[in-house]
Amino acid sequence: MIVSPSLLSADFARLGESVAMIDRSEAAWIHCDVMDGVFVPNISFGFPVIESISRLTAKPLDVHLMIVEPQKYVSRVRDCGAAIMNVHLEACTHLHRTVEAIKAAGMKAAVTLNPATPVALLQDIIADLDMVLLMSVNPGFGGQKFIDNTYNKIKRLRELIAATGSHALIEIDGGVSTANAAALASAGADVLVAGNAVFSADDPAGVISQLAGADSHFPHSK
Ligand code: DX5
Ligand code: ZN
Repeated sequence: MIVSPSLLSADFARLGESVAMIDRSEAAWIHCDVMDGVFVPNISFGFPVIESISRLTAKPLDVHLMIVEPQKYVSRVRDCGAAIMNVHLEACTHLHRTVEAIKAAGMKAAVTLNPATPVALLQDIIADLDMVLLMSVNPGFGGQKFIDNTYNKIKRLRELIAATGSHALIEIDGGVSTANAAALASAGADVLVAGNAVFSADDPAGVISQLAGADSHFPHSK
């Protein structure tokens, strides 16, 4: 299982220590949540912070943009060190153009769906994507309760990926913990984002390690 710990739940005054902890852990990526107070009712951090994080780690930065008009910032996101750029389908009028721009800039292209957005809307873009991020909470805040309908969406997305020959990974974000990681792995998730579960733990690296091992006993059919 690819684990992408979300820094949203870290202590921002000690961000360097959190990045160092993730760096030493079994996490494959680092998830950076950018919020603009318009697309979501909260504001987090922006490009200068991501730039600083990227100087502290060699792990790929998985940047989740919860902002309107994300296409305006493709080169800015690349320049601050992102390996993966996640844009919300709900924020993109010309999604195909935006996905092409992300890939042309040298990043992996990921499209994020809010909990109420049907997987079927990806039908004509899935073959072009490196990853789909399914939100399992309404975006904007860490520490929310996992929405169970996400399991149905993973199943439908897995079917869509198989039917189209897409190589897209499935990433799950929101309310992920050691309690549901095995079920998510079994349902077909490839990547787990976890904020609160990691940063509220006494042993954050231990939680990351448990999440990373979540698929070894629950193989799903791909
Ligand atoms: C929510 C963010 C998430 C958030 C997840 O809008 O996109 O990445 O940090 O937090 P937890 O794991 O606490 O639900
Ligand atoms: Zn996120």
